[in-house]
Amino acid sequence: MPWCVRKCPYCDFNSHQLKSARPDGTYIHALLRDFERELPRIGQRRIDSVFFGGGTPSLFTPEDFAHFLTSIRRRADLAEDAEITMEANPGTIERGAFAGYRQAGVNRVSLGAQTFNARLLERLGRIHSAEETERAVEELRSARIENFNLDLMYALPEQTLDEACSDVRAACALNPTHLSYYQLTLEAGTVFHSRPPPLPDEDTAWRMQNAGQLLLAQAGFEQYEVSAYARYGARCRHNLNYWSFGDYVGIGAGAHGKVSRSVAPDMTGGLQVLRTLKPKQPKEYQEHAARGAALAVGECNAVAARDLPFEFMLNALRLNEGFDQQLFEQRTGLPMSSVLPRLHEAQTRGLLEPRPGGWRPTELGRRFLNDLQAAFLA
Ligand SMILES: C[S@@+](CC[C@H](N)C(=O)[O-])C[C@H]1O[C@@H](n2cnc3c(N)ncnc32)[C@H](O)[C@@H]1O
Ligand code: SF4
Repeated sequence: MPWCVRKCPYCDFNSHQLKSARPDGTYIHALLRDFERELPRIGQRRIDSVFFGGGTPSLFTPEDFAHFLTSIRRRADLAEDAEITMEANPGTIERGAFAGYRQAGVNRVSLGAQTFNARLLERLGRIHSAEETERAVEELRSARIENFNLDLMYALPEQTLDEACSDVRAACALNPTHLSYYQLTLEAGTVFHSRPPPLPDEDTAWRMQNAGQLLLAQAGFEQYEVSAYARYGARCRHNLNYWSFGDYVGIGAGAHGKVSRSVAPDMTGGLQVLRTLKPKQPKEYQEHAARGAALAVGECNAVAARDLPFEFMLNALRLNEGFDQQLFEQRTGLPMSSVLPRLHEAQTRGLLEPRPGGWRPTELGRRFLNDLQAAFLA
């Protein structure tokens, strides 16, 4: 859902500044047409989770969500207990809105808090105050959506270690079930990239990460991925599927998808992994979706078998628990023996360690994750 009230200067997501108060609801029709073209790839599979991301999905009305979810329920097997998450910007939450989203089927919300510091919120070009984030959480509670995530960023322009710690404490005080703690990165094509603000040095950023990890652990949040922390039982099912190299369909402007299918067993081990990508520009996307029903929306490319180990590791090694041998073989169609020399080499470098049934990154491996992942490049 690729629109935002205003483009944040650090953001390289496919988000476009909205020119009216709300996006045009006809976008939902395009999403549904896109979904219909994906049905053959989904086949008989059950959908366990849905993630409305953006952009700012909370710019769409509860009625838009209800229409979309009711329609996909009619066309595909959406699990009764599916995790259905929407991202929301605290600056776009009207009183009572979450009750409507919940009614539509949303049962998990991810709120972009980013920081609770007024100076930094302004510096990040955010459209909301810390009070509005707190109010959005109250709204969540009154709508009985207890399962929610807060996005926080650290290593912000001229941020001090104390300020970063205060943010983590403020976030914990709101008692989310999940917290995402991202280091601000300067992404190509953003305003911050072309005019970089003064950022804390690497050592300070490292201290902020460690201090954040400690505070979160003390508050009962277990880190299970590079940036993801959860209370017991509240890991994000949808994201876990990405990180375990599972399949997903991507619906909407700029959406990525990954779907595997069985093929004749040859070099690929009987499995072919397809990557799909939808047109990024909303207008072009909507035009594609409106074309003849037989035409798939966007691009679809098969991943070469030699690239599968790297693609798998790129995701799985983000998880503190790493992966099971069985999962590797199931998701890539390749025998574990095909990567054993690389696993052993990474082990010798102290980046990876064996565990019962599989492998996981060591603390050093988590710290130098790029090096560890690169060890599996074709
Ligand atoms: C699509 S946005 C979330 C929802 C909503 N658009 C918002 O900003 O409130 C996903 C999250 O990615 C994080 N993010 C975006 N750009 C980032 C960057 N350059 N560095 C680190 N984190 C970033 C932010 O925490 C943001 O909330
Ligand atoms: S509101 Fe979220 S998606 Fe939109 S520009 Fe800001 S960070 Fe990016």
